[in-house]
Amino acid sequence: MSADEDIRHACALLRAGQLVAMPTETVYGLGANARDDAAVARIYALKGRPPGHPLIVHLADVAQLAAWAVEVPDAARRLAMRFWPGPLTLILPRAPGVSDAVTGGQDTVGVRVPSHPVAQRLLRAFGDGIAAPSANRYGRVSPTTAAHVREEFGAQTPFLLEGGDCEVGLESTIVSLVGEPLLVRPGGIPQADLEAITGPLRRAAAGEGPRAPGTTVAHYAPTTALKLVTCDLLASPVPADVAVLARRPAPAGFGGKLWLDAGTDPARYAHDLYASLRRLDRVGAGSILVEAVPEDPAWDAIRDRLARAAAACAAEELA
Ligand code: TXA
Ligand code: MG
Repeated sequence: MSADEDIRHACALLRAGQLVAMPTETVYGLGANARDDAAVARIYALKGRPPGHPLIVHLADVAQLAAWAVEVPDAARRLAMRFWPGPLTLILPRAPGVSDAVTGGQDTVGVRVPSHPVAQRLLRAFGDGIAAPSANRYGRVSPTTAAHVREEFGAQTPFLLEGGDCEVGLESTIVSLVGEPLLVRPGGIPQADLEAITGPLRRAAAGEGPRAPGTTVAHYAPTTALKLVTCDLLASPVPADVAVLARRPAPAGFGGKLWLDAGTDPARYAHDLYASLRRLDRVGAGSILVEAVPEDPAWDAIRDRLARAAAACAAEELA
């Protein structure tokens, strides 16, 4: 865990317009002072992310919300009270003065209060919003350990606060409360728990609503082609050059490169998913086969990320 001295150093860097990589309970983030356009531009440059995509502003607590969002509807306030600090991002109408660099030029802003103790200490010490996307190169698998962040950026890795494994392992749930409540991105919070506050939440369709990288169909992809397959297919002999992510142990005589048993508990599966994809990506397989996950709502966020990873690979095959 990061020492007080590291937190102070990270704050000094943020105030000087530099980037800091920080742990959150979802994934590691690449942070910049959200009030500093030049610093925010550094995030885009380092990630290789095309401009015009909005970033999430991380806050220490709900009291800071008024500085970033106007018209906080009752449902948003109740969601914040119930789920912050935690893996929930709210899309709200932006307050005057919130920069286009952060919102991608939209009149909305994405905000969240992370619960990770290191993120909390950093945000409290910094005292204002930290804009942070996931700390990975554009379109690739999000980092859930400090080592993953170094793997992404190598010698270009900014000052990195260590915070162990990310507990949730998938990016935050995103709910838009601008007009009709929309589920923009499923995450660690069950939809039913959100709906207890918002009423029925419609799932934003691909391309609907604000432009957003994590919501493009093809995203979160390893380098090796990834395909979703049924469990029957994995029961028959597989080619020698495949790597497999399944929810049960390898059958006797499995002749592929690597078989990872991610288990049947969705929380554990989510926690391990990105680390598993990175491992499967490293064994030199011709393709990664992922056993399709259940239709049950508990698997929604996982199904979403796997579908995007598979779509990204399909798109590369066509290109
Ligand atoms: O768990 C997370 O949310 C992580 C950690 C670091 O907090 N961050 C993350 O950021 O996943 P990123 O940049 O990979 O995804 C940000 C997403 C965008 O894809 C978009 O869907 C949404 O947040 N977003 C942010 N601001 C928005 C806005 N003004 N309007 C609509 N969507 C917005
Ligand atoms: Mg991301």
